[in-house]
Amino acid sequence: MTLSGKHILLGISGGIAAYKASDLTRRLRDAGAEVRVVMTEGATHFITPLTLQALSGHPVRVSLWDEEHEAAMGHIELARWADAILIAPASADLMARLAAGMANDLLTTLCLACEAPMFLAPAMNRVMWAHPATRANAATLQERGATLLGPGAGSQACGETGEGRMLEPLDLVEHLHKHFSIGPLAGKKVVITAGPTREAIDPVRYISNRSSGRMGYALAEAARNAGAEVVLVSGPTALPAPAGVQRIDVESALAMREAVMQALPCDLFIGTAAVADYRAAVIAPGKIKKASDTLAIELVKNPDILAEVAARPDRPFTVGFAAETDHLLDHARDKLVRKHLDMIAANRVGEGLAFDQPDNALTVLWRDGIKELPQADKRVLARQLIELIADRVHDHA
Ligand code: C5P
Repeated sequence: MTLSGKHILLGISGGIAAYKASDLTRRLRDAGAEVRVVMTEGATHFITPLTLQALSGHPVRVSLWDEEHEAAMGHIELARWADAILIAPASADLMARLAAGMANDLLTTLCLACEAPMFLAPAMNRVMWAHPATRANAATLQERGATLLGPGAGSQACGETGEGRMLEPLDLVEHLHKHFSIGPLAGKKVVITAGPTREAIDPVRYISNRSSGRMGYALAEAARNAGAEVVLVSGPTALPAPAGVQRIDVESALAMREAVMQALPCDLFIGTAAVADYRAAVIAPGKIKKASDTLAIELVKNPDILAEVAARPDRPFTVGFAAETDHLLDHARDKLVRKHLDMIAANRVGEGLAFDQPDNALTVLWRDGIKELPQADKRVLARQLIELIADRVHDHA
């Protein structure tokens, strides 16, 4: 059972079952997850933030008004960071506040600001759980997409016996594991190119571009979260590889092409790399001297990796990117057809746009459809794009 590299935001609300959150944190980390803990004020009466800090390895957040924490990792960043929110225990009060859409403490604010799937492990006295108000709140939350884990039945801390016990930590971990392993890309192999390429001119100089690799890395993470086996063929970037993703480091376009061909066949190929269109015809064996006032370097065209993948008889579902400064849609549609792609994600580039930025906005085109993904953090966009791709990849012959 693995949650390798998954970002789990663990919310703890005020109930006696909060004492089990320490074991839950350990079990989540044992399964490979990264855990960030947010407690309600009520929860701190049952268990101390210090305990959860020690077990999660990160400072625990309680207040929305904590300047130091907001400066380190703001609540919106935390909401984006999460691959899933697990609230355990979820008290009757917390469920009521969530159902009402309130944002009157840090945890409820995060829940409103987060697009990741939400799991609730209710824990309360059996009469509270059976109360029509609680039932209605639970139903509302489920209708909006939250998953209720439990509660179980048995003896309760209040001395009664009945339905309302929080599920055991290992059962909760098992549920999360199931969620991630039956994702929409489960059983699919995905190859993604990312980052810039570096084309050597001589032993110390090269031609490259401003691509940071962020979009490709975010897509690798989102594809992994959707259950795929992911190979990330990456040009030079400063980014860490998402856990559980196989990264192959390359420098030049030719090396990237070679690594991609080695990684095939696959079910889905996404070309996010900003592959240099040209490379030096000849790489000078020694450092070029500044002898003359002008210097001409002959460039030759690099192979188009994306088009080559799409032209194979065993072609995967093939997705390209089009970074353009003008006539965005015309160029993107032209590339979709010319390179025989199944889908293309177009984004505007230029001063302060897309390249080397945490945010982006995409227009996604396929043969008979179009979808705008408005400006958002690249991790959020990646999740949306993977959903869009997953809806279509299954129809691909
Ligand atoms: O034609 P253009 O370079 O604008 O196409 C961009 C798309 O093609 C991107 O998905 C990029 O990763 C891919 N590409 C490639 N190999 C190249 C050039 C671009 O895979 N040599």
